[in-house]
Amino acid sequence: MKYNSPRGTRDLLPVESVIFRKTVDKILHIFKLFNYQEITTPIFESSGLFERAVGETTDIVEKEMYTFKDKGDRLLTLRPEGTASIVRAYLEHLSEFQKQQVTKLTYVGPMFRYERPQTGRYRQFYQIGVEAIGSISPLVDVETMLMGIHALASLGIGNAEIAINSVGCDVCRPVIREQLKEFVGSIVNDLCPDCQNRYENNPLRILDCKEPKCQTYFMGMPSMSKALCKECNDHFITVLDQLDENNIPFVVDPNLVRGLDYYTKTVFEIRSSLLGAQNAICGGGRYDNLIGELGGRKTPAFGFAIGLDRLIMVLEQLKLLPETDLDIDVFCIGIETEAQNKVFQIMNTLRKNDIKCEYYFKRNSIGDGIKQGLLFKAKFAIILGEEELENKTITLKDLTNKRQSSFNNIEEVIRAIKG
Ligand code: HAM
Repeated sequence: MKYNSPRGTRDLLPVESVIFRKTVDKILHIFKLFNYQEITTPIFESSGLFERAVGETTDIVEKEMYTFKDKGDRLLTLRPEGTASIVRAYLEHLSEFQKQQVTKLTYVGPMFRYERPQTGRYRQFYQIGVEAIGSISPLVDVETMLMGIHALASLGIGNAEIAINSVGCDVCRPVIREQLKEFVGSIVNDLCPDCQNRYENNPLRILDCKEPKCQTYFMGMPSMSKALCKECNDHFITVLDQLDENNIPFVVDPNLVRGLDYYTKTVFEIRSSLLGAQNAICGGGRYDNLIGELGGRKTPAFGFAIGLDRLIMVLEQLKLLPETDLDIDVFCIGIETEAQNKVFQIMNTLRKNDIKCEYYFKRNSIGDGIKQGLLFKAKFAIILGEEELENKTITLKDLTNKRQSSFNNIEEVIRAIKG
């Protein structure tokens, strides 16, 4: 029986793993400049948390969750996204955070959604996300989006544009919903079965439909921003003004609603034309009700998540992938037992001096050892043969120019390696 990775998942081989890690490190570096602190939460949570947070009538909860019962009969779900978990953790450890004017948390890790796999869409994918909890200020929206743009720019993506909208609040959402229902009412039978369902249960979700047939109907949709209450409208205008002031390119996308129910006021996405259908590399927004809904005091918040798989696809297409550092410095070859033991000890000294080395375990021949060294892209080989043992010397071969030098002790060898 041969096993492959489950459908919609993939192995990140060493080169891809280095690229992932380096990309994450660069992004985290920027997030830290904005005072974000890293938090790590479990990859599974009580199913109820996601049902409540993400919304019972969203695609994620209705169709995409990996839910299972553990041996203690608890209903658990592999996290489909990070925000619910962060809010759960924030509330569980409230005493750590509650004195902060705003709590800024960042997280990295795998998320799981049972979606139809395609380019840029996986069932296990990776996000780096941020949540700024505790402030209603529109400047939090602006700072957080600016940070996303800054993070992408640090990777070389200098021309990212924000698509932005406001989905209102408890006061104006019913008006938006009614306006939408009225518009869709006459065409509802032409929409896909999912949209017909959404029309009854969660009309705003209609705008999130990916069916091209449905999309064409949404062109003439009445603009949501016209139905915003004064508070939401003022908030939205300030956000747009401040984006302008800070030279952040954006377009207002009046049909942007996002696939999760917790959003209020600002929602945004950063998309790439290089990605085809799955074009969002980053998405987020404000969620002022979620913390209250999950049992806390009503606390405003704003956040986003970058999809790392998609981001790396874009970096690859733009030839902006970080350098990988899998090559080794020195390949160490000894054939006879005495030479092998000596080489093995030499490697301890090399590693203590921060030199990356590998040992020739096969011990067939010096020539084969050199071949192995070249396979690992080693810059040097240390060779201990009969002659070296007799003369008490160490041979260092530069594998780039093939030149060999003989040294009397390891200190000299280290000096030569370090140049
Ligand atoms: P989301 O839009 O569902 O938002 O996901 C954020 C990003 O994750 C997307 O823009 C996309 O790049 C990536 N992504 C989503 N699904 C997949 C998939 N199946 N395969 C590959 N990449 C995917 C959230 O998850 C919210 N929690 C973001 C947020 C944080 N809102 C407020 N705070």
